[in-house]
Amino acid sequence: PIVKEIFGLANLEEKIRKAFGLRKVVVIPGDWETSPLTKRELGLAGAKALLGAMRGGDVVAVTGGTTMAEVAEQLNPPANAAFKQNWFVPARGGLGESLEIQANTIASGMAKRVGAGYRLLHVPDLLGKEAYQSLVHDPNIQDIVSTIRQARIVVHGIGDATEMARRRKLDRAMIEDLQKDGAVAESFGYYFDKEGVVVHKMLTLGLRLEDIRKTDTVIGIAGGKSKAKAIHAVLQFGHEDILVTDEAAAMDIVSEL
Ligand code: F6P
Repeated sequence: PIVKEIFGLANLEEKIRKAFGLRKVVVIPGDWETSPLTKRELGLAGAKALLGAMRGGDVVAVTGGTTMAEVAEQLNPPANAAFKQNWFVPARGGLGESLEIQANTIASGMAKRVGAGYRLLHVPDLLGKEAYQSLVHDPNIQDIVSTIRQARIVVHGIGDATEMARRRKLDRAMIEDLQKDGAVAESFGYYFDKEGVVVHKMLTLGLRLEDIRKTDTVIGIAGGKSKAKAIHAVLQFGHEDILVTDEAAAMDIVSEL
């Protein structure tokens, strides 16, 4: 806390918390994009925020990405018998990203660290209409999807829209459409413009916006100056409860207030 005050981080936290009506904001020093140390620290702070929010018997839905992979890596829970009754699930179908950063991998990795259970959703993160129609009626998939929709906690990464569209190998026309629609952020399969309005959603299975709206605790974890716009857009969307970010993103967000 002393370090936070010297660097003015506590002040950034409070400004962002107030501006977006959040329960809690954590800002760590540095820039995630350029500093490996900040990447680790962001993961650690994210892990602490998650542990602080968890109770026994929770379903925790997680997304993929390098930030979330770091959170899983840094999750060192105290021995807590109650956590063993928890379930970790991917927020959405996530096949498509490289294995290490898929939501399934992160959900199972977190569950093992906590001694909790996990259930996986083995469907691609981008579905064609026909594939979607047949998967959505599969009883096993319906079962896991209904568990996902009961999540009390959602922990998710946030990405720049164009960057994520490229990472997901969307074709050029799609990327241009997104840009025309003003998409600046991507999170849990939805693309948002700078006002936080959803301009595009991916056809996939798992959490829907209406589930996120009624989730008790939504924890967003993302840092880096280049993600500031994206983080700001997701905050505008208005359903975050806890934000864990870094100084570089926080300064930028505060300068726009
Ligand atoms: O693809 C999963 C996801 O959580 C996206 O929703 C988000 O935009 C992205 O990963 C963040 O990835 P990274 O932490 O690697 O920047």
